Amino acid sequence: MCGIVGYAGSAPAGPILLEGLQKLEYRGYDSAGIAVVSEDGVLQLKKTKGRLAALSELTDGGKCFSGCLGIGHTRWATHGEPNDVNSHPHLSEDGRVAVVHNGIIENYVEIKEFLQGEGVHFRSDTDTEVVAQLIEYYFRRSGDLLDAVFKVLHRIEGAYALGIICADDPDKFIAARKDAPLLLGYGEDCCFCASDATAILRHTRCVSYMDDGEVAVISRGGATVYDSMLRPVNKERHIIDWDVSSAEKGGYEHFMLKEIMEQPEAVRKTISPRIRDGRICFDGLSLTVDYIRSVQRICIVACGSSYHVGVVGKYNLEHLLHIPVEPCLASEFRYSDPVVGPNTLVIIISQSGETLDTMKALGKAKSLGAHTLAIVNVVGSSIARDADDVLYTWAGPEIAVATTKAYSTQLVLLDMLGVWLADMRGSISREEYGELMHALDRLPEQMQTVLDNTEDIKFLASRCFNHESVFFIGRNLDYALGMEGSLKLKEISYIHSEAYAGGELKHGTISLIVDGTLVIALGTYDPLFDKTMSNVVEVLSRGADVLALTTECNAEEMKKTVDKVLSVPDAHRILQPSLAVLPLQLFAYYVALQRGCDIDKPRNLAKSVTVE
Ligand code: M6R
Repeated sequence: MCGIVGYAGSAPAGPILLEGLQKLEYRGYDSAGIAVVSEDGVLQLKKTKGRLAALSELTDGGKCFSGCLGIGHTRWATHGEPNDVNSHPHLSEDGRVAVVHNGIIENYVEIKEFLQGEGVHFRSDTDTEVVAQLIEYYFRRSGDLLDAVFKVLHRIEGAYALGIICADDPDKFIAARKDAPLLLGYGEDCCFCASDATAILRHTRCVSYMDDGEVAVISRGGATVYDSMLRPVNKERHIIDWDVSSAEKGGYEHFMLKEIMEQPEAVRKTISPRIRDGRICFDGLSLTVDYIRSVQRICIVACGSSYHVGVVGKYNLEHLLHIPVEPCLASEFRYSDPVVGPNTLVIIISQSGETLDTMKALGKAKSLGAHTLAIVNVVGSSIARDADDVLYTWAGPEIAVATTKAYSTQLVLLDMLGVWLADMRGSISREEYGELMHALDRLPEQMQTVLDNTEDIKFLASRCFNHESVFFIGRNLDYALGMEGSLKLKEISYIHSEAYAGGELKHGTISLIVDGTLVIALGTYDPLFDKTMSNVVEVLSRGADVLALTTECNAEEMKKTVDKVLSVPDAHRILQPSLAVLPLQLFAYYVALQRGCDIDKPRNLAKSVTVE
């Protein structure tokens, strides 16, 4: 989704802003722009539809600007088509105020009508332009930029991260946040705001995270932060502990492939620090044993792939805990009447920790009295800070829009949480606990084995890449796995694909199976392997082209019926999806590669979905 970077310092702002925007490219965008104000109050603006290469050409790599203070933006269109005019920054009518925005101003129509009634002329179709115009409106009356911004913030409704510059106040810029990510970065003789740390990591590792309702006045010397009542706030500073190279491709053709290959190490980092003396330990959680024993129900709330982790979690946690576990789409949960109360543990899963629907669902769960525990990758993100407890996945920065290592680390962390809770509740046998600890220990190495043998997957992808429709079928954990396999394939290769519970086929979907239809049959859940085989036979007899994924112990059996068979090492049933997802990620990757797709930046998608 939109990316924001702001800079105040002693170096020319243009190249720094452009470079920052390049680091934010992965969030997804369709146009970009930069505005810089010079010391003597000249505001220059350049923006264009398309990739950053176009903005770089238009601005001579950012060098066309004179001035050491400015704001930049990558836009992911919500209101108004992606074109030059709708790109950010947006100017006020007199051209003295420029604004970049991530989020949606929900009451923009009403404000636009008000301003038009005051004789203001609008240029764009966006919701954002009202912010620039309204600041000018109030600034003309008070001559005080901060006062004007506060008035605007009290008038607009919706979600926003804002960066604001004003030609009449060329020594500072203003940043504001509500329900959209924004952090401040403190460099030597310079200060930043940014949607995320990747944009500024070359210049500083020292950041503070803005909270909802806060406004920062930023100059080269530092930032003063105010709460929504204009009271100064002391912001805690944090040091980012991952380096720039982890957000670079490191010789791989795509971030997605790099991140797929990083999974054994990422999973090891998630597991190892949490195992002591052969037992799972989660330090620092506020959950008490009494509370854990009183939990009657678990809801796992998330979006997209994180939701798919929750679907796996339903099967695994119900197996371990013997209480109802419901995976919930955050966008549905927040607008429904969930039966949630103090005895419900709500597990929130989010890689970015900034997904708006998930954030709002977290708020709803808290307001209903549930205990909330977040599984998050991005340290210091909104969800991590808002939840009652947080467990970090420690996967490192994930840049590709299609998640891989975040999914895998979320999955193993949720499994570990399930085992830990089961141990507290006394619902897991000593024997199974021991088997699981052994299986966890072996998991990274087994993942490495799968990733070291990609030739068959590559070959099968080359045989399947021109299908236009695919069905993933499986039962229990394989059904949950199929959801993720299907999403991976559709988001990066643009092939229509659906995941079905094998047993549901006969209730409708089988009518779509004709000669040559590609069916990816997942048979890695051993207890239901035979049932899945029956489904395979059913689709084969209707002419389907079947590709099967199973475990080593069932591979020979599968090969008696299916030609195209992939297998993964056998593992404890709870951890089997952690291995089985790897060939599905690679299959999606190689299919998309064959189809010539823009793998790291798939069309219409954003890494972090900060609007609803
Ligand atoms: O950052 P989050 O985990 O909250 O993101 C949720 C989804 O937007 C995300 O998992 C999305 O589905 C992935 N891009 C899929 O690969």
